[in-house]
Amino acid sequence: MNFPATRMRRLRRTPALRSLVRETHLYPGALVYPLFLCPGEGVRREVASMPGVFNLSIDEALKEAESCAALGLGGLLLFGLPAHKDDLATGAYSENGIVQQGLRALKSSRSLDTLVLIADVCLCEYTSHGHCGVVTRSASPASPAPGEAWRIENDATLPLLARTAVSLAQAGADIVAPSDMMDGRVEAIRAALDAAACENTPILSYASKFASAFYGPFREAASSAPQFGDRRSYQMDGANLREAMREIDLDIAEGADMILMKPALPYLDVIRAARERFDVPLGAYQVSGEYAMLQAAFQRGWLDPERAMLESLTSIRRAGADFIVTYFAKDAARTLA
Ligand code: PBG
Repeated sequence: MNFPATRMRRLRRTPALRSLVRETHLYPGALVYPLFLCPGEGVRREVASMPGVFNLSIDEALKEAESCAALGLGGLLLFGLPAHKDDLATGAYSENGIVQQGLRALKSSRSLDTLVLIADVCLCEYTSHGHCGVVTRSASPASPAPGEAWRIENDATLPLLARTAVSLAQAGADIVAPSDMMDGRVEAIRAALDAAACENTPILSYASKFASAFYGPFREAASSAPQFGDRRSYQMDGANLREAMREIDLDIAEGADMILMKPALPYLDVIRAARERFDVPLGAYQVSGEYAMLQAAFQRGWLDPERAMLESLTSIRRAGADFIVTYFAKDAARTLA
């Protein structure tokens, strides 16, 4: 049946009709808000390239979490800025690490029970060199191959990641989320969690994580920029969709309960492909650069903030994400209310 019998505009005539036939829905419970915990008291330091995003001391983070719970958000993703960094990232797995302290504080408040607390598992915020794994340099005995001045050691990193995950689970994390992209980390983390009687702690694996320019503002927020080199030997090449499917396959085989895709908007095709192929819960991370880019346009008055924000989030849901990690979580929940 063609025109004039078929008129697509009939169902677009009123807001009520459009609402009735809408295929994709956004709701606060599907949004996760990242928090950057830092030492101190009363600290609320805005990240220059991320307007509205702050480094928060734990007392301030508690207030922020209260407002997230009141808005009906699904959860929080916790990152830490340790007081001190070293080559083995001890701050990531120390019992009194910044995120461990934050988790205990957040868990002690009943009013925050509706929020799922997700702890990012990575070493880059805690290493002096800013890489996500253990680094060996050519001067050291376990020397990297000729021609390499340094190397990110995959297998030596796994026990540290596993230790970090256990420490975070014991401090109260509802979910641990490895974001480092070392091979075999999900298996190592699952085994360590089970051995520590944390067999009920799920793993949300950043299974498909591309080496992206869009992480720039995050590295300012978490002061985790690599001091030399880049992350291309462990994060994926942005040109590769099939490789992303293999990464996800492996992580699920190793025991990932859920997967996280990252970045989101520049990789919607990868999200869609993963959605069609895998039946595990799937999240997407609208990363710092995606947020910064939109905020920059809002500041110039070049885009309508509410509409552009909701449209970008709806697109990520339409591509297949069950939930979205986004710096817009609170603003979006307010707009949707
Ligand atoms: C840690 C990590 C990063 C992000 C999440 N976890 C940074 C990176 O890989 O360099 C980026 C999040 C964002 O850009 O919002 N490895």
